[in-house]
Amino acid sequence: MKYPQPPVVVSLDEILPEEPLLMMGAGPVPIPHKVATANSLVINHLGDTMNRVVEQVKTMSRYVFQTRSSHVMGVAGPASAAMEMAICNLVEPGARVLSICNGLFSRRLAEMARRVGGEVTILEVPEKQTAKPEAVEALLKNGRFNVLTVVQGETSNTVWNRDLVEICRLGKTYGCLNIVDAVCTLSTMDMEMDEWCVDATITGGQKGLSSIPGVSLIAFSEESWPHITGRNAPMAHWCLDARLADQFWNKKSYHYTAPVSGILALHEALRLICDETLPARFRRHAICSAALQSGIEGMGLDLLIPAEARLNSVVGITVPDGVSADRVRHVMSEVHKVEISGAFGLNILRIGQMGEQSRTHNLFRTLHALGSSMRAAGAKVDLPAGMAEMEKILTADGFWG
Ligand SMILES: Cc1ncc(COP(=O)(O)O)c(C=O)c1O
Repeated sequence: MKYPQPPVVVSLDEILPEEPLLMMGAGPVPIPHKVATANSLVINHLGDTMNRVVEQVKTMSRYVFQTRSSHVMGVAGPASAAMEMAICNLVEPGARVLSICNGLFSRRLAEMARRVGGEVTILEVPEKQTAKPEAVEALLKNGRFNVLTVVQGETSNTVWNRDLVEICRLGKTYGCLNIVDAVCTLSTMDMEMDEWCVDATITGGQKGLSSIPGVSLIAFSEESWPHITGRNAPMAHWCLDARLADQFWNKKSYHYTAPVSGILALHEALRLICDETLPARFRRHAICSAALQSGIEGMGLDLLIPAEARLNSVVGITVPDGVSADRVRHVMSEVHKVEISGAFGLNILRIGQMGEQSRTHNLFRTLHALGSSMRAAGAKVDLPAGMAEMEKILTADGFWG
């Protein structure tokens, strides 16, 4: 037998930067040391030790999702897999789905619903605006919809659906199961799953939770569960079948080999959130994001989204005419070792305020790097004025998080 020659490759040391970049983009975000350590462990995916970990992950997730539902589960996969799990379990072929679309990720939910055979109606929200309950109700009234999909924060263009509560309550009034993408918002701002009548809430690990990408969380409401167990149509997705996932998450038995390291990482991320408490965490995010926004405006740059529809967890910046967003990002990462995000085809920049990103030391480093790199790319900015504006907010009310 003649075996092929093994490929010649370099070690990771030669690929990764010598000094890690500070990740201040739209996710993944920096992870705390305890999360990184937990992620380096492998344990048996079944048995007493894992069962204890799983029980705690569910208990802490219920706190973070603000639900009493017993149907909280982890998903081995990106947040998109959790989105797909919500859709394929709650949307049967022929079901009528109202998808509220503000941008890329909310449109992804609509596309997933279409692919499983849902009859999808899209409510296109005008650019830079929050979805209006009146517009949602106008469609719900005549549509006999079974499922409503909506995003709390549209990371792609930094729009916040601030009337989510009202929209979900309307969805419920008109007989819908509500699916909410809280991928970039969970644990950065209020999201009360039970109170707000949400039937499936989705989040990824790599954003507000400050865990790793690729292991996600989903919570189904008690009310949605009979729809899942009693569905008539066969389920095309074996891995994402919530009834099978329930075997692992609630019955201590095998579905597939769970991503144990990622679940341990999630455990630690959730534990840190519980230690901090939700109100303190929401306050930290609100203040840090306000400080960043104020600093950006203070140096003479414009924010992309008007205040009433602006997302806190990811801040969009309009890049001045004649300045290249790519050039700014390049200088930021090469010179200042700070990484921020561009956007899907738009000449804008996005800075994340999720989890560990919302720390004062990270803010100062990022704002300085942004101002300095804007200058290098040809923009006129008043960097000291921006830093002063930011400091003003961070030092008010004794906050220095
Ligand atoms: C709001 C929102 N939904 C869904 C996703 C998809 O997450 P993932 O890339 O982990 O599949 C993202 C990722 O940026 C997001 O921001």
